[in-house]
Order: sequence, then structure tokens, then C-alpha cells
Amino acid sequence: MSKEYKRYLITSALPYANGPVHIGHLAGVYIPSDIYTRYLRLRGRDVIHICGSDEHGVPITIKAKKEGITPQQVVDRYHAIIKKSFADLGISFDIYSRTTSPVHTVTASEFFRKLYDEGKFIERTSEQYYDEEAQSFLADRYIVGTCPRCGNERAYGDQCEACGATLSPDELINPHSAISGSPLVKRETKHWYLPLNDYEPFLRKWILEGHRDWKSNVYGQCKSWLDGGLQPRAVSRDLDWGIPVPVEGAEGKVLYVWFDAPIGYISATKELTPDWEKYWKSDDTKLVHFIGKDNIVFHCIVFPSMLQAHGGYILPDNVPSNEFLNLEGDKISTSRNWAIWLHEYLEEFPGKEDVLRYVLCANAPETKDNDFTWKDYQARNNNELVAVLGNFVNRALVLTHKYFGGKAPACGELNDYDRATIAELSQIKESLENNIEGYRFREALKDAMLFARIGNKYLADTEPWKLIKTDAERVATILNIALQITADIAIACEPFMPFTAAKILKMLNIDHFNWEQLGRTDLIPAGHEIGEAVLLFEKIDDDVVQRQLDKLDAIRAANMAAEVKAAPQKEECSFDDFGKMDIRVSTILAAEKVAKTKKLLKLTIDTGIDHRTIVSGIAEHYAPEQLVGQQVLVLVNLAPKEVKGILSQGMILMAEDASGKLRLLQPDEHTNSGAVVG
Ligand code: MF3
Ligand code: ZN
Repeated sequence: MSKEYKRYLITSALPYANGPVHIGHLAGVYIPSDIYTRYLRLRGRDVIHICGSDEHGVPITIKAKKEGITPQQVVDRYHAIIKKSFADLGISFDIYSRTTSPVHTVTASEFFRKLYDEGKFIERTSEQYYDEEAQSFLADRYIVGTCPRCGNERAYGDQCEACGATLSPDELINPHSAISGSPLVKRETKHWYLPLNDYEPFLRKWILEGHRDWKSNVYGQCKSWLDGGLQPRAVSRDLDWGIPVPVEGAEGKVLYVWFDAPIGYISATKELTPDWEKYWKSDDTKLVHFIGKDNIVFHCIVFPSMLQAHGGYILPDNVPSNEFLNLEGDKISTSRNWAIWLHEYLEEFPGKEDVLRYVLCANAPETKDNDFTWKDYQARNNNELVAVLGNFVNRALVLTHKYFGGKAPACGELNDYDRATIAELSQIKESLENNIEGYRFREALKDAMLFARIGNKYLADTEPWKLIKTDAERVATILNIALQITADIAIACEPFMPFTAAKILKMLNIDHFNWEQLGRTDLIPAGHEIGEAVLLFEKIDDDVVQRQLDKLDAIRAANMAAEVKAAPQKEECSFDDFGKMDIRVSTILAAEKVAKTKKLLKLTIDTGIDHRTIVSGIAEHYAPEQLVGQQVLVLVNLAPKEVKGILSQGMILMAEDASGKLRLLQPDEHTNSGAVVG
């Protein structure tokens, strides 16, 4: 049973202003939230969509130090880039604010102060690392030392990037300051904690009993946090960037970024409308937080406890959260520049905003991590947007101009096929609505595309271009229906591809449709004059995709070079030692897996001297069929050795990169087997 809501308050996670927005953010949060909000607007609902930049926190101060500028300069730069790029992609926030705004400072301070005055915090003093030279306590990220797990000397107080271990500063061997390099001392410091454990009964009832409807990844994470037992959580930090703790004797202390940031949703709403309380404090408002999966605990456990402690605020009805999007098989990473940055995409692909929106929605990581590849981007553009959607709309419009001078023809008598088509169209709306309201945007997009698929099939089956010679009246009916379908597409696509929807409306010479008209076939009246037909999408060629792949290759190589510490050089070897090795260019004639092994391939090779067998541990890196015909370098006079009952006569030379991937070494041009290497 779902509740009747009078209005909707939609929030999208506030992106950190320490870098631009990339496709992972978009697919995880902003594309879904925008689809949802546009849909509700189209239905005439009272809805506001809130977002802004998250401008506090340690990473911003680190970035500032690195670049020799102030934190304010960092956030000013990225706030501007992020805000513009969202707007250019058509992400339709009602307000895009920032957490350095005066309204926010006041709102967050008052929030803290109320909890403080009512005794909702506990105060605790603990020992933390202090840098005497820099005269400040250090955030975990500012402490470096030797990793107790792998010995990496540049491990951080929260994580070792070499082995991936999660660490606490106390675990580091020889901890010292990343700022001054000096050794650290421990000093006592006082902080305020929100006793989350006190809210556990409320959270259990509200989430575990009341919100079984949440997505399983969200519900599951909440359950495991609750089952693990909640602890008091510090809501202040020793830092010089942030909102000062509004309490006497708290000099040098600021609100923890995860305390102030979600309050940013409230501050931004205040900035948007004097009516903000109507949205935040009435039970008949549906509050939905769109977030990424790394934000779940803050939005489902911490922020609701804060709201509960404060009193007067509603709680979210849902917290749809996506998994992560990878890029070409690797995790997106801001620090490694492994991403497609929105502002760069918009510059390089002008007019293709909807293509990105489409691909990111069609491939959204709704239930599991997913991969963005440029090949998939190209294929979806060419095979779906151009061939299905663009093609149908174009044919409907062009044929109407050609046969009826651009005036919508009247619908004559319907035949069975027309009726079946119309019936099919009328059924999509409900499924589309259920999918959007159930946060299944991939399925919803498929529903929206169905209008175009059905339209295409309808034209292909009825062939008006043939009939026109014999039965103009029948063609009038066909094109009338095709125009109605075009109108349906304009409605159904608006939440997903607003630029395309606007173009279709313009072509149809219609100002506006509303959602309730979707699926009907009386949207374009007979005699209505349509506008000029323009192409909605254009094919994307291989070279465009290749350029992007090359760009990524260059980034990969640069990262590899920056990260890899090559193994130390081996002991010296004499010229004679080397001369003993007989290395030949050889050609692989056949390759097969060695039964019951994972890593081994049995290769038959032509060494130029003879044909022989070599067993090689490359099965995890190359498929047998990839290898046949390849030339490789082989150490041919290595003493033969039996491997899994097969006599292996020689060794294929390979390079192992930092990630453990094996790569064949090959002559740069095909040469004769037996050619001597040396
Ligand atoms: N800046 C955070 C992130 O990018 C999200 C903050 S959401 C808010 O992960 F609720 F705190 F605003
Ligand atoms: Zn380590």
C-alpha cells in the first residue's frame, strides 16, 4: 500500500567540490534523479529537486595545499565547473547551491547548537596525533608512515594505496606529518559525538521493519550496520576549513563535513523558497535521496538520526542508491584521472548531451557494478538512437511533408493491424510509470524506446512509400498514426532525453504535452501544420571512438609509469653468460589448454630449427585462438622439462607488468622463424 503524497522533495548527493563531475557520478546519482524529477514535473506534481556543492572536508584542503591556493579558491573553481556542466547536460535542479553559502553556515550552526543545547551530544576527550611544527592536529590523510601489512613507506593514516588495506593512524609504523615531515606527538583533544547507539531502536523499526521496500543493496547495508552495533560518532574535527563549532572554547574546531553536508539539502531549500518548511516538515511530502553506494550509511543511519535528534523534520521515503560504474574495465578514479569528465565530454561532443544521458541510463549500475565502454556508447548511439528512434521520427516527418505538404493527414478507417498497434501503444504507459516510480530506470527507458520500436515496425510493415501510388487514403491513416506515435515519443522521452523531446515538439510544431496524454493516438489533429524535419541523431564513426580510446591508453600508460616502481636490477652478468642463451623468433602453430590446469597452455611452435612443444603459463592472459599465428621470442636451448606429463622444450619470453599481466614480446614486423635474437 503506498501512501498518498502531496509534494515531492528530491535531493541528489552534493558532489565534493575538489574535482569535476564524471560519468560515474552521473550514472549513479544525477541521471536517475533527473529522470525521476522530470517525470514528476511532467505529471504536474509539486516537486523540487535540490543539490549543491559539498565544499568542506579534508580532501579540499589537501588539494589546496598541493596547488598552493586557498581552499576557497579550490571550491570556487570546481563549484563553477560542476554547476555549469550539470546545467549543460540538462540536469534540472531547482537550485544548485553550495555549503559555503551564508544561509548554510547559519543553518548548520543552528542545527548543531540546538542539539548541543538539548544535551543530544556527548563530549569526549581522546589522544590524537599533533604536528608541533605545523601546530595542528592532523586528519588521518595527513599522516604518513610505513604500512604494517606490506611495508609501503608512503601509507596514509586511513589507507595504504599499495596494498589497499584500511588503516588507522595508530597502526602506522613511524608515523609522521605529511605537511611538515616532522614526527608526531599525541595530544588530547575534545570532540562532540552523536550517540548513534541511542537511535538504534528507532532505526531498526523505521528501516528494518518499515522499509523492506528499499533496494536490496541499501537495505542490506543498513541491516549489517545495525547488526554490527552502532557507536557514538564524532561530529567535529580539528581543522581550519569548515563551519566553526558554534560553542565557547571550540577554537580550531569545525563541524565534520558529513555533519554539515546533508544539512545542505535543508539550507538549499531555504534559499530556493520561503516555503521550505512545507517541504521538510509535512508528513505528506515524499522525501527521496538519490545517492551513490558509498553514501548509504550517512543517508540512512547518520542523517536520519540527526533529524530525529533535532525533531520536526520528515525522514526519507526512499534512498535509491546505485552501484559503481567502471570505465573500460577499470575502477573510475579521480586521482588517477581515470574518468570521462562531464565538462570535457560536453566540449568534445557538442549536441550529444542526450546520447550520454541515454547510454548512462541504459547501462546504469542499478543492481551491480557496470562497465562504460566507448564501443558500447557507439553501438547504442548507432543501433538504437540513430537506427530506431531517429530513423522513425525522421520517416514520419519527412513522409508527411512529401505526401501531404506538411499538414497532418486525417485518420481514416482503421484495420486490424492499426488497432493492434494502437492497443500495444496504450499499454506502455503503465509499465513506464511503474518502472520510474520503482526506481528501475533502465527498464523505464526500454519502455520509452518501445514507442519508437513499434513505430518503426509499423512503417516497415505498412510500407506507405509503396502504397502512395495506389492508395493515398490508406497512407493518410498510416501517417496520421505515425505522427501520433511521434508525439508519444516526445512525451515518453522527456525525462530521459529532454533535448530530443524538445526537438521533436518543435518538429511537430506543438508547445507542450502533459504526461496524461501519453499512449494516446489523438495528439496531433488532422490539418495541423508540422515544422521542418531535422535529424535527431547522427552516426558516430570508428575514428571518434578510437580517439577516446587512445586518450585513455595514454592516461593508462602515464599512470603506470607514475605508479610502478620497477624491480631492482639483478646481479651483473657477463657477455658470455648472455651469449649462452639461444633466443629465436618462432611462430605459434597450435595452442590448447592443458587439461585440469588454469594457467597452462600447450603450444606447438615452429622455431625455424624444428617444430616442438612448449608448455607456457599464459592461459589466463591469452586465449588459445589469439595465439595461433603469432610470432614470439623463444629461449630454445633451455634444458627440457616435464610439466604435467608433457615435455616442454624451451621458454616463451614475456614481460610481466605491474598488475601481473603477461605480454608477449614480438618482432615489430613479421620475420622468418629461426631469426636469431641477440
Ligand atoms: N560529497 C559526498 C560525496 O560525493 C556526498 C555528500 S551528500 C550529502 O560522496 F548529503 F552529504 F550532502
Ligand atoms: Zn600496505
